[in-house]
Amino acid sequence: MTEKTTVESKPKIDKGLDDVYVKESSICLVDGVRGRLLYRGWDIRDLAEHSSFEETVYILIHGRLPTRAELAEAKQAFAENRAIGPEVVKLLRCMPKDAPPIDVLRTAVSYVSNFDKERDDPTRGANMRKAQRLIGKFPTLVATAQRIREGKRPVAPDPSRGIAEDFLRMLTGKKPDRLSAKVLDVALILHADHSMNASAFAATVAASTLADLYSTMVAAIATLKGPLHGGANEAALKTMLAIGKPENAESYVLNTLRNHGKIFGFGHRVYKTWDPRALILRDYARQLSELRGQQDLFHVAEIVQDTVVRELSAKQIYPNVDFYSGLTYHLLGIPTDLFTPIFAISRVSGWTAHVIEYWEDNRLVRPLDYYVGPTDNVYVPIDQRA
Ligand code: COA
Repeated sequence: MTEKTTVESKPKIDKGLDDVYVKESSICLVDGVRGRLLYRGWDIRDLAEHSSFEETVYILIHGRLPTRAELAEAKQAFAENRAIGPEVVKLLRCMPKDAPPIDVLRTAVSYVSNFDKERDDPTRGANMRKAQRLIGKFPTLVATAQRIREGKRPVAPDPSRGIAEDFLRMLTGKKPDRLSAKVLDVALILHADHSMNASAFAATVAASTLADLYSTMVAAIATLKGPLHGGANEAALKTMLAIGKPENAESYVLNTLRNHGKIFGFGHRVYKTWDPRALILRDYARQLSELRGQQDLFHVAEIVQDTVVRELSAKQIYPNVDFYSGLTYHLLGIPTDLFTPIFAISRVSGWTAHVIEYWEDNRLVRPLDYYVGPTDNVYVPIDQRA
């Protein structure tokens, strides 16, 4: 089929693809009107209260609740896949110390693919195994890169621990307290999927060309980086730290809005009400701030939230997950530029689920652009140009 290069009248241009559906999916429902988020039909509020990240990943990938034996088997598979080879550690040691950790993760995932003998095996079984390997390795890659950056010895994974607890242990070299491990586990549950968001779409576009699963994850990580997407958690925390004191918060917001600036961690393409993930993390951030004696920053967040919601009520702007996840990670003592990589540690589960689902009925993604440039330029040889 030839591309339509001439269009009589200007077509409707869907910049941002706001209302475009690219597939049917049974993975995740974002109910932006009621403020509900469901994974395979289960409400994330129930999962955050009763489940674990590992079980949530099982639900996302398999579409059902595991039996006790299936969950134990899945946990074991993630744990066994957590180790990274010496060649990967060597690569991480070569990365510049000032490279953004999300870029290091993107590079490492690309490199790791070269050691997976099943990389180019397109069968569903191989892709499920690759998904387990990716989900297992992301936390180790992020924690190991951070240890190296800090000039510390990497800490090997401990397969007897859950993903969240072990990540914090590999990062700090110490067993985390129960609350910290629980909070991170909940944060991972809440970030695991969010339907056809920008990074899931980037993964889907790569998948639609029948590139391998690792390549689709590299595309997704690259897309997650931006401050309009996963990078918003880092930007939101930086805003809170810049405000510093509760008494500065309201005027900061009013000034920013007066100058048509954005407050990161607010607004959403789908939610036109409170993001349920933000509400859950807000409670944990409050608990952590009381325990850590850092209530000032939480009060800053509350005043920013109240001011934005009050000032932008007509635009239906509410805090999104990134507003409180940034604060939560900060209160867990995690460096700011690891926030987006932690998002990826969780979201790799949703990305792989979406890609595997898309491949069940693949179609190359190939939209059009509307050409508005010249059509009759004459080529002038270089020695005849003025
Ligand atoms: N702060 C201030 N104003 C905001 C805002 C924010 N965080 N988010 C949206 N708005 C305003 C816009 O300025 C725009 O106002 P206008 O109609 O007067 O021009 C209106 O609300 C609609 O915003 P728009 O950016 O067009 O909506 P969108 O659906 O394209 O944007 C986001 C969604 C997420 C890109 C946007 O809300 C944003 O940039 N938020 C900050 C980044 C962020 O937190 N991203 C994480 C998302 S989970």
